[in-house]
Amino acid sequence: RDGAYAPALVIGTGYGAAVTALRLAEAGVRTLMLETGQLWTRPGRDGKVFCGMLTPDRRSTWFRRRTAAPMASFLWLDVVNRPVEPYAGILDRVDFGSMAVYAGRGVGGGSLVNGGMAVTPRRSYFREVLPRVDAEEMYRRYFPRARAGLRVNGVDRGWFEGTEWYRYSRVAREEAGRAGHGTVFLDNIYDFRYMRREAAGKAPKSALAGELIYGNNHGRMSLDRTYLAAALGTGRVTVAALHRAVAIRPHAGGYVVTVERSDASGRPLGTKEIACRQLFLGGGSLGTTELLLRARETGTLPRLGREIGEGWGPNGNVMTARANLPHHPTGCHQSTVPVLGIDAWDDPRHPVFAEVTPRAGGHRDLDQPLPGDHPQPRARHVHLRPGHGPDGAALGPRAERARGPLGAGVLRPDEPGQRHRLPLRPLRPRTPGVRRRLHLPPARRLRPRPGHRRLRAGEGYRNLYVTDGALVPGSLGVNPFVTITALAERNVERVLRQDVLTGRT
Ligand code: FDA
Repeated sequence: RDGAYAPALVIGTGYGAAVTALRLAEAGVRTLMLETGQLWTRPGRDGKVFCGMLTPDRRSTWFRRRTAAPMASFLWLDVVNRPVEPYAGILDRVDFGSMAVYAGRGVGGGSLVNGGMAVTPRRSYFREVLPRVDAEEMYRRYFPRARAGLRVNGVDRGWFEGTEWYRYSRVAREEAGRAGHGTVFLDNIYDFRYMRREAAGKAPKSALAGELIYGNNHGRMSLDRTYLAAALGTGRVTVAALHRAVAIRPHAGGYVVTVERSDASGRPLGTKEIACRQLFLGGGSLGTTELLLRARETGTLPRLGREIGEGWGPNGNVMTARANLPHHPTGCHQSTVPVLGIDAWDDPRHPVFAEVTPRAGGHRDLDQPLPGDHPQPRARHVHLRPGHGPDGAALGPRAERARGPLGAGVLRPDEPGQRHRLPLRPLRPRTPGVRRRLHLPPARRLRPRPGHRRLRAGEGYRNLYVTDGALVPGSLGVNPFVTITALAERNVERVLRQDVLTGRT
């Protein structure tokens, strides 16, 4: 075991973590970031850093023998997944019996693998979900700051109307209209100016070459190109990749974090302990939850509240797909970056917001067995407002109704969400193909109190903060990362003002 000290230690490198590190560093605080996944900068044998969705290799998947893509089946056949060598790949799927959770692994967290849809929730709904957070301040100050920091942009409408790459979206808009629903354009972190150059043959293709959930080699403004690049640019931030925090204990007014190191093939490289003054948890909903539960249940942070671990559940996102009849093709060329959403939010009976995406596994897999036809299903990430789900109940009738006009069928609702207990995972889930349970007292569900920056219970734990998606208490009705980023902007500003810069720690 070797030791180290950092004034501020940030666990994770996703949205909350990246914002926190940047703002701490700008304020002059030396900050160390720990990331369980890899730093994705080195090209593989094919000269590319990331593999595509149509030809996934070991870079695609976090320690599995077969890829585990969302929406991988067509007519109940797994036509998308491929065997791969166990490796510290970019997309993890953590299985918990009745529920599976996808997460990005690498410096940049979920920003490396997600659909990039950058959606700000409705203000009225934000107020319902986070009533203790000043919504006026969020929408005036922190949402705009987050959108700017993330480099959010939108597709050019004129180009959208004419390009073959978004024909699938235009078909969906037409069908939605026939079912009585409007659509809205969705912003994204993918650089649409770059995409137009791809389409014009002036730049290497990425979104137009089937790249997304296993990383984009070009065009994606992931955190390593925005917040993290800025953080590293200050000269005060260090990122330690393939470093996994496994335990936290208080020490001398701060904390000591136990860290396991490994190489990209999963070979252990030893354990170290890192002491810090301030500890920020940004391991994502799952990573942060595990660390807190483990700390409470093993007695290193026994005063953590019983509410931690309560109400943990999915983000309201339900995936389903439809197939079109051959006379209404969605096209062989589909951009992987979604730009349109079907907005039935105000429907009194079945409120839903459905994003129109191409099929994650790539449409070529699907149209080859059906020559001449283009019956590509379009996966829809459906967000259900709490109170009407997210149990799929509101989705069912909606999907049934939507199939009316063209006789299209619902192929497969994926994993209708439920509220879950979150079991603790083993400390070494990287052992290829093996996922065991850690035998500890039953875990509680996580709900660090939303909007509260400091973890308190009884006398509380000073200098310990949650900074990521674990703060969001339920579905926001839209994709979450803009909100997670904005909340992190808000919270770190307060921590700096009230705790760090005043020396009141
Ligand atoms: P995030 O999960 O981003 O980062 C956590 C990081 O911490 C990870 O890199 C992880 O490896 C690391 N970590 C965890 N535990 C650790 C430990 N113990 N020690 C060290 N490191 C640790 N959202 C959206 O708004 N629009 C979209 O289009 C999509 N699409 C989408 C597609 C897919 C396939 C996925 C998986 C997710 C999305 N999302 C999304 C969700 C979005 O990506 C997600 O909500 C955010 O990434 C969460 O940000 P956080 O800051 O909470 O953590």
